[in-house]
This record gives sequence, structure tokens and C-alpha cells, in this order.
Amino acid sequence: MFSLRNFLFSVAATTVLCAVSGLSARAEGTNSDLVKRGEYLTRMSDCQVCHTAKDGQPFAGGRPFNVKPFGTIYSPNLTPDKETGIGGWTDDQFVKAVREGVSPGWKHLYPAMVYPDYARMTPEDVKAIRAYLATLAPVHKEKPANTGVFGFGPARVTMVFWNLLNGPASSWPDDPKHSANWNRGRFIVEGPGHCQECHSPRTLTMAPSTSNAWAGNVADGWLAYNISSDKQDGLGNWSAEDLTSYLSTGHAPGHGTASGPMAEVISHSLRFLTKEDMAAAIEYIRSLPPRASAAIKAPSSTDQSSVMRGEAMFDGACAGCHLRDGEGRNTPFADLTGDHTARAPDGRNLLLLLKQGSNLETENGSVFMPHFGHGYDDQNVVDMANFVLDHVGKTKAGLTQADLKKFMEEAGE
Ligand code: HEC
Ligand code: HEC
Ligand code: HEC
Repeated sequence: MFSLRNFLFSVAATTVLCAVSGLSARAEGTNSDLVKRGEYLTRMSDCQVCHTAKDGQPFAGGRPFNVKPFGTIYSPNLTPDKETGIGGWTDDQFVKAVREGVSPGWKHLYPAMVYPDYARMTPEDVKAIRAYLATLAPVHKEKPANTGVFGFGPARVTMVFWNLLNGPASSWPDDPKHSANWNRGRFIVEGPGHCQECHSPRTLTMAPSTSNAWAGNVADGWLAYNISSDKQDGLGNWSAEDLTSYLSTGHAPGHGTASGPMAEVISHSLRFLTKEDMAAAIEYIRSLPPRASAAIKAPSSTDQSSVMRGEAMFDGACAGCHLRDGEGRNTPFADLTGDHTARAPDGRNLLLLLKQGSNLETENGSVFMPHFGHGYDDQNVVDMANFVLDHVGKTKAGLTQADLKKFMEEAGE
């Protein structure tokens, strides 16, 4: 009873406090420096992508995260709605959730929310994010119930132990052996940018690996490629200009175009970085030690008849945008020269791209790659992918329907 009373009291107090702080935030106007800084950090952290459902209102939550085989977690509503959003929270409660993964009522968040990385931001940074979110229009939207293991409240207790093993560290002093620029880059890449969440292999407890960091990893079914300085498979042969172009526009001549989850990261987050911050992030990335990728399953030989069937379809379905040799037409984004996805022989991203399509937001509007889920059966999709690998990627092309099925399952489809 005692704790319940305390809890109710703190809820009431919170509501009053927030009503007051909400008023003052509005009185300052949306142009205050704090709100601007918060908007920039919100973009750098890519909060919107995870906290928006497909075709849903921005930041109103409801995007599913499939954690096989455990179940599905839905992201909550971050708009200032008092009942279904975070309108009733204090700044300190918000900071604790974002940096430590603990929501009001000692609700321990699952690391689908990347708080161990966000702990690199200071409490003041996170309060600026809150100030920005407080300027959004409240959206009344209940979060769908989590399923599987995540549907049980008690499962959250295990997070206490996960945090002891892998949880957020509280301070990250600059490394004096490196320049201020490099340290800024490390903050962006390992902190708000949370690149390792997709690009680093996982340890047994599902935390990003440090010993094999940046060597590539499957996230949402897609392979987030090796971005260490490995020359074979990583970024060892990318110049700083190549990286600037890829990360700020989604395309780099000679390296192709970002699609799928990486297109989302660029669309909503990276293309808004200042020139200075982009240069700092790239200086840091280029300093990452080389690591060999985990071996990927590549076929031993090319399925010639599949390639020939694919060739016949490619001319009608793809060549209009990509031209026959993949050099692209009308837009540089359709230029597949050097594209990793067109030459990775496991065909994972290629097959998922053909089934899901992809969308990239640019300065001049969105460019998209259509999906071929309708009107083309699975064998058609596999055949076209085999043609791309053989003809554009110049690699072994032996994909099968079983590969497609496996990748689709891993992508939660
Ligand atoms: C990679 C996806 C992802 C990103 C990026 C992300 N979140 Fe989350 N967030 C989630 C998920 C999933 C949950 C729910 C976790 C759970 O239920 O345990 C969550 C939970 C939260 C909560 C707890 C809300 C509640 O009702 O308990 C807050 C606050 C939050 N996120 C804020 C943010 C902010 C601010 C950012 C950007 C700085 C952000 N998130 C970026 C996925 C993400
Ligand atoms: C949500 C998961 C996710 C996050 C977060 C993410 N990436 Fe990626 N990244 C991917 C995927 C998937 C690909 C492959 C894209 C494709 O097939 O076109 C990729 C591709 C790349 C590539 C191109 C590699 C190549 O060989 O073509 C670079 C460079 C890159 N990411 C850098 C970054 C940086 C820097 C960050 C952090 C600021 C980051 N990524 C964050 C998923 C992610
Ligand atoms: C309407 C024009 C259009 C058509 C038709 C089209 N594409 Fe694309 N494709 C694009 C654009 C634009 C991009 C880059 C944008 C993106 O990936 O988000 C792209 C990207 C790609 C990529 C690179 C993806 C990556 O992650 O590196 C491959 C490979 C590809 N397409 C293959 C195909 C194949 C195979 C077909 C036919 C089955 C096809 N495309 C049909 C416009 C098109």
C-alpha cells in the first residue's frame, strides 16, 4: 500500500510539474536554442525511425521489433500525449529511460531500445531531446501489447542482470591520444549514431561484440556489412569522399546505393549532420582496425539456367532504371557499379531488396526501388537476383528459393 501511495503521489506531482514545464517550453517558443539542439540530437540518434509505425504518425510509436524466437516488442509513443505518450513524465524520468533503460515504475527496458549507446550523451543532451519532443503535437495512440516472452512483465527483471553484464557505462572521457575531431566522431558513431547495433556481431548475451567489432552482422534480416578498414570486405578501399557521399546522400560513385535499413538511417538521420560532424564521424570510422568478415555461405557454382531465365526478365523489369549492365539511367542512385549488394554471393540483401523494395529520402525528394513481391513468383525473383550476381556483380550465382525463404523469415516476413 505504501509504495502504491508513493507511486500515485509521484504520478500526481509529475503531472503538475509537467504541466508547468510544458507551459514554459511553449512560452520560449520553438526556436529556442535548446529545442534546436534537441532536434539535431534527435536526428543524430534516429529516434524517429524506431518510434514510428509503418504509415503511422512520426514518434507515435508502434513499430514492431521481432526478437526471434522470443517474441515481439513494440516501441512506445514519444509524443507529449499525457495518457499514451510521455507528456506526464519529468525530465529526470526521461533521462533515466534514455540513458539507463529504466522507465518510471522501475520498468527495465529491453535493449531493442539502444540505451547503452545513448548513455554516451550527457543528461543535458537528453534533456534537449526532451525539449524538442515536447514541441510535437500530442498523438493519442496506445502501444500494441508485446507478445511472447515480452508479454510477461516478470521477464523485465532479467534485464537487471543483462545490465550488470552489458549495461551502460556512466562516463566516457575523451581519449587524449586522439584529436578532438576523432573524439567527436567516436561520440557520434558509438553514441547517438549507434552504428554498432547493426554492424557489430553479437556476443552470446546479445550485446555488440568488442573483439570482433564492426565486422558485419545480420539485423532485421539484412546484412549490415563489415565497416572496419578491412580491404577485402570492409571500407579499406573507400576514400573519405566516397564515405561522405554515401553517408550524406545514400550513394557513392563506384560503391553503389544504400537500401533497406541503411537507407532509413541516411534518410532520417545521417543526411542532417553538419559537415563538421560528418567529417568527424568519418575520421573515426576510418580509424577502426581491419577485421575479417564472418564467412558467408556462398554457392560453389553458378546456376546457368536460372541466370538465363533471369536475364530475360531483367530486361523488362529492371533495365528501364538500371540499364543492362547496371550503370543506371536518369538518376545516379540507380548506378550499381561496385555495389556491395550486387556482388555479395549470399544474395541476402539483394533478395530482400527485391521482395521489400527500398526508399531513400534525398535533398531533392525520395528515390525508390520498387518491390517485386506481386506479379513475380519466388522463382522469378531468385532468377533475376542470380542474373544480377552473375552479370553485374561478376560473382557465383547459385541462389535458390530456400535462400529466399530463410532470409524472409529472418526479416520477420
Ligand atoms: C533501434 C530502435 C530504437 C531507437 C533508435 C530508439 N528507440 Fe526508444 N525504444 C525502442 C523500443 C523497442 C522501446 C520499448 C522497449 C521495451 O518495451 O522494453 C523503446 C522505449 C523507449 C522509451 C521508454 C518509454 C516507455 O513508455 O517506457 C523512451 C522514453 C524512448 N524509447 C526514447 C527514445 C529516444 C529519445 C530515442 C532517441 C534518442 C529512442 N528512444 C531511440 C526502440 C528504439
Ligand atoms: C538499422 C541498422 C543499421 C544502422 C543503425 C546502421 N547501418 Fe550501416 N548498413 C546497414 C545495412 C543493412 C547495410 C547494407 C545496405 C545495403 O544493402 O544497401 C549498411 C551499409 C552501410 C555502409 C556501406 C557498406 C558497403 O560495403 O556497401 C556503410 C559505410 C555504413 N552502413 C555505415 C554506417 C554508419 C557509419 C552507421 C552509424 C552512423 C550505420 N551504418 C548505421 C544497417 C545499419
Ligand atoms: C523504377 C526504377 C527501378 C526499377 C524498375 C528497379 N530498380 Fe533497382 N533501384 C532503383 C533505385 C532508384 C535504387 C537505389 C535506391 C534504393 O536502393 O533505395 C535501386 C537499387 C537497386 C540495387 C542496389 C541496392 C543496394 O542495396 O545496394 C539493386 C541491386 C537493384 N536495384 C536491382 C534491381 C533489380 C534486379 C530490378 C528488377 C527486378 C530493379 N532493381 C528494378 C530503381 C529501380
